[in-house]
Amino acid sequence: MRAHQLAVALVLGLPISFVRAQYTLKKTYQGSSFFDDWTFYGNFDDTNNGHVIYLNRQDAFSQKLVSITQANNAIIRVDNFTTLPITSPTLVEKRNSVRINTNDLYGVGSLWVADFAHVPYGCGVWGAFWSTPTNTSINFAPWPTGGEIDTFESWNLIQDSHYTLHTIPGCTVTNPSQTSSAFASMDCSAGNPVGAQGCSSNSTDQNTVGPNFSNVGGGIWITELASTGISIWFFERANIPQSLKGNATSLDTSTFGTPAFNVPSTSCNVGSVFKPQSLIFDITLCGEADYNQTQTCASRGACLQNTVWGNGSNFDEAYFEIQSIKVFQSTTTASGGSSAGSTAPQPTSSAGATSSGSTSTSGALALLATSASASIYAVVGAAMFLAMLSA
Ligand SMILES: *[C@@H]1O[C@H](CO)[C@@H](O)[C@H](O)[C@H]1NC(C)=O
Ligand SMILES: *[C@@H]1O[C@H](CO)[C@@H](O)[C@H](O)[C@H]1NC(C)=O
Ligand SMILES: *[C@@H]1O[C@H](CO)[C@@H](O)[C@H](O)[C@H]1NC(C)=O
Ligand SMILES: *[C@@H]1O[C@H](CO)[C@@H](O)[C@H](O)[C@H]1NC(C)=O
Ligand SMILES: *[C@@H]1O[C@H](CO)[C@@H](O)[C@H](O)[C@H]1NC(C)=O
Ligand SMILES: *[C@@H]1O[C@H](CO)[C@@H](O)[C@H](O)[C@H]1NC(C)=O
Ligand SMILES: *[C@@H]1O[C@H](CO)[C@@H](O)[C@H](O)[C@H]1NC(C)=O
Repeated sequence: MRAHQLAVALVLGLPISFVRAQYTLKKTYQGSSFFDDWTFYGNFDDTNNGHVIYLNRQDAFSQKLVSITQANNAIIRVDNFTTLPITSPTLVEKRNSVRINTNDLYGVGSLWVADFAHVPYGCGVWGAFWSTPTNTSINFAPWPTGGEIDTFESWNLIQDSHYTLHTIPGCTVTNPSQTSSAFASMDCSAGNPVGAQGCSSNSTDQNTVGPNFSNVGGGIWITELASTGISIWFFERANIPQSLKGNATSLDTSTFGTPAFNVPSTSCNVGSVFKPQSLIFDITLCGEADYNQTQTCASRGACLQNTVWGNGSNFDEAYFEIQSIKVFQSTTTASGGSSAGSTAPQPTSSAGATSSGSTSTSGALALLATSASASIYAVVGAAMFLAMLSA
């Protein structure tokens, strides 16, 4: 956008959300090659105390816990065909499942679009699509150094999915673009105080989880990791913006409307708190997810004995069906010609893009791009206008 266009927009009081970042397609995970570039965990669930063993690549394929459907969608599921003995005195406490993470890392200036047709649900089921720098080969400790973004998370039969950030201390939520009352917690830090659950909000959309999600044909989640803040949008199939339909290779976040979840960089220095992220799928069972929260599950009795044991039919719906994951990279040239001192965010390369925290937009543009409140628009807009006049 040219400076004079921005000036006109500001003078007329037009919404200037179109300042928001533009992205181009960087990497697609889809179809028969979907699983090619992921690492399989190959260990029991040693992070959430769930009753699962996450299979290695070879076993996950041979046991068909991962597969590609005739419709070319990727499936990630829990074993629902093995009967675990209920009466054995030597308890069989773990069922096979899958956890995978991308080999490429995506830093600040990245955006990923996850298109699902089905998400896991059922008593004892805890499925998530999330990201963190954690590598199964490199122990990136202590958690949550490098930051964690939970784009989709649902457990048992809860009626809404959850959006959460986990960070080191010092990252909080102020002036999010969505209503702040949706936040259960505004402090994104985990472990300070011990037990803090990160900054978390519940989806207000009834169709993000369970049978409702597949009944509407599924949908997409968009996660934006920008220096201006972290945002997540959800669209069920019928509401996917035109700009994202088909095989769009570029997109502009200004066409997405208000995000479902937004943590602006105002009081969370995204560029320094969030290191390049590996995208992760996992489905664990029981463990730390609050089984008793869903009455119909709690009434069945203890989670392990009443879901994990037995013939596995409890897990028929415990799977992700994924149409694609597409990762985009920022190409925003901000407002060329503006004298507000803005510089274009640097494109972020994927694998090993460890310097991506340097993505820089001017403070003013950063604020504008964060769906700030009208009053912030006014103040910053006036400052930018003056800056342009004096150029
Ligand atoms: C994890 O570490 C392995 C081995 O060092 C490396 O090949 C892989 O690219 C890394 N993946 C991520 C996401 O860091
Ligand atoms: C499904 O959505 C409807 C509204 O469309 C809502 O009444 C119902 O509670 C939802 N069911 C679940 C399991 O979330
Ligand atoms: C969010 O959902 C959780 C569990 O489903 C519930 O305990 C909590 O009260 C909800 N928070 C808000 C703000 O609705
Ligand atoms: C998008 O690309 C996929 C994979 O190449 C292809 O199967 C599909 O038909 C394309 N969709 C559209 C709308 O062009
Ligand atoms: C859930 O309820 C059962 C039975 O009342 C109890 O034994 C168990 O400790 C509870 N679990 C949690 C996580 O509160
Ligand atoms: C699996 O176990 C459940 C609960 O014990 C039972 O209701 C169901 O009939 C069993 N299904 C099969 C195919 O054995
Ligand atoms: C496992 O669940 C799938 C549906 O997700 C179903 O098609 C399949 O028959 C189930 N397997 C068994 C052994 O019941």
